[in-house]
Amino acid sequence: MQINFLGKNLHTPLVLASGVLGNNKAILERVWENGCGLPTMKSIGPAPREGHKNPTVIDLGNGLINAVGLPSPGYLNMEEEWQELSDRVFPITASIYGGSVEEFVQVAAFVSAKGPDFIELNISCPNSDQHGMVFGVNAQSSHDVVAAVKKVIHVPLIAKLTPAAPDIATIAKACEDAGADAICAINTAGPGMVIDIESRSPVLAFKKGGLSGPMIKPIAVRCVYDIFRSVSIPIIGLGGISTGKDAIEIIMAGATLVGIGTAVRYRGITVFDKVNKEISDWLAVHDTSMEEIRGAAHREA
Ligand code: DHB
Repeated sequence: MQINFLGKNLHTPLVLASGVLGNNKAILERVWENGCGLPTMKSIGPAPREGHKNPTVIDLGNGLINAVGLPSPGYLNMEEEWQELSDRVFPITASIYGGSVEEFVQVAAFVSAKGPDFIELNISCPNSDQHGMVFGVNAQSSHDVVAAVKKVIHVPLIAKLTPAAPDIATIAKACEDAGADAICAINTAGPGMVIDIESRSPVLAFKKGGLSGPMIKPIAVRCVYDIFRSVSIPIIGLGGISTGKDAIEIIMAGATLVGIGTAVRYRGITVFDKVNKEISDWLAVHDTSMEEIRGAAHREA
């Protein structure tokens, strides 16, 4: 199921969501070998950051709540990773974050020179007051950060959006107008909170966290549907996608590529091959193609 995405040939339409498996070459290569067309790295920040205290991730059965806290060695301290990745045979997206437009620009310029195939701007993390969602909930700040980063990078730019925005379609349009080459939606939902009633305290050390997995899939499908109506750049659809049928659903909402994150935990690293086969089987049974079903939910019967 080869697919061309912004000029790159990917061997499958599946993307590994950012943050799920870190930045080590061996693990990113393994997901690619297991049917992921485009692995995304964990977001890289402007300075070393430890992240939040444990517990940072809790499994709620129908998904996860997490507040990892954007741990990063900082963009200047990743020479080993870049060295390793320099002779890779697979494509990667480097995800980045910052606390200001200037920081985004600084990180983006440096990271772009390291040769990732795409750069994703994480303007949507719910777990830091300074570094994330604060950009992605506002059309003007989304526009400003995308426009500024676009000037200093040499690879296509993907804007990763949050479902916490009051109108995600407007944010997506602002990113497109500022020069974004693609939209990735959605990042984790919420933030939410889970309280353990026996200890009477929130289960996460950071108290609040982003929601992922099957419980957020209807939000993801609605967001991709809305974004598809407002932009003409391609969309990476994700949020609770676990099966081939889930992937078909978000493609019908308008996605070109489909991201998988939390399902790696539930179905293992072979989830990519499994979902690819489930998509192919469904398309074969229905005698159709990915191109034919993309955005199908928008067409009048
Ligand atoms: C982090 C958590 C998220 O849920 C997310 O969407 C992005 C980043 C984090 O805490 O590192």
